[in-house]
Amino acid sequence: MATSARRKTAFITGAASGIGRAAAEAFLARGYATALVDRDEVAGRKVEAQLRTSGECQFIPCDVTDDAAVRKAVEATVSAFGRIDAAFNAAGIDGEKGKQTADCTMENWQRVIAVDLTGVWSCMRYQIPQMLASGGGSIVNCASVAGVVGAPYVPAYVAAKHGVVGITRAAALEYARQGIRINAVCPGMVDTPLTRDFMTPEISAALLAECPIGRFAQPNEIASTVLWLCDEGSFITGQAISVDGGWTAR
Ligand SMILES: NC(=O)c1ccc[n+]([C@@H]2O[C@H](COP(=O)([O-])OP(=O)(O)OC[C@H]3O[C@@H](n4cnc5c(N)ncnc54)[C@H](O)[C@@H]3O)[C@@H](O)[C@H]2O)c1
Repeated sequence: MATSARRKTAFITGAASGIGRAAAEAFLARGYATALVDRDEVAGRKVEAQLRTSGECQFIPCDVTDDAAVRKAVEATVSAFGRIDAAFNAAGIDGEKGKQTADCTMENWQRVIAVDLTGVWSCMRYQIPQMLASGGGSIVNCASVAGVVGAPYVPAYVAAKHGVVGITRAAALEYARQGIRINAVCPGMVDTPLTRDFMTPEISAALLAECPIGRFAQPNEIASTVLWLCDEGSFITGQAISVDGGWTAR
């Protein structure tokens, strides 16, 4: 149970890698007790061991496509830390790349929508009642620039991320008067295992040419925005905040 009524707590999915992990570091550094939620048990336990020196954290294995497991993960967090003040729903995959819309397989479509969109909704449907019960909170959903503008050859990903922005706006309107702010963060290209997985020098050069700021983001640059939205963004709700080096400014 919570050791102090004043201590803040965070629930972060995708916490075993990349942006989610960087967010866990940022919230821990700010003094949040933090639930590290991820489907990757090996990486999750390793991250938990590494971050324990920074503050109170607990790895909770959970595949966000398993609604019952998400419910249990939220319950486990409340049972360990007493409440959820902040949630960052960052677990995600990009799926097949290089396929045009008519060639996207049904399997890829369903998998990407299940993880990136339904998974976010599933997390919110259990986080929101806990936040209502404890007097409010802040949720940040991880969308993408692909949730704001089109991107070719990843149709399921683009559809899922536009959906994340949509459900963020809808839920924000519903709960704004009940003390819950809900926003989306929309990263541009970030240097994480997800992008390193498909990066070749040619792809990297092409993407950098598209990016006004001329470099990829580091995960902590997304994490700091998420933490700021939760801690400082008291009049911000229903927004899709691009953290993209100017990608969507055109
Ligand atoms: N890296 C980028 O350039 C970039 C850009 C825009 C948006 N994003 C989004 O940021 C989020 C994090 O991406 P990242 O780059 O840190 O990737 P990453 O691959 O480094 O980390 C993703 C994490 O999510 C976890 N995960 C995947 N599917 C899951 C599931 N079903 N249940 C629970 N956990 C699951 C993975 O195990 C992994 O730890 C994703 O939603 C991604 O779409 C990333």
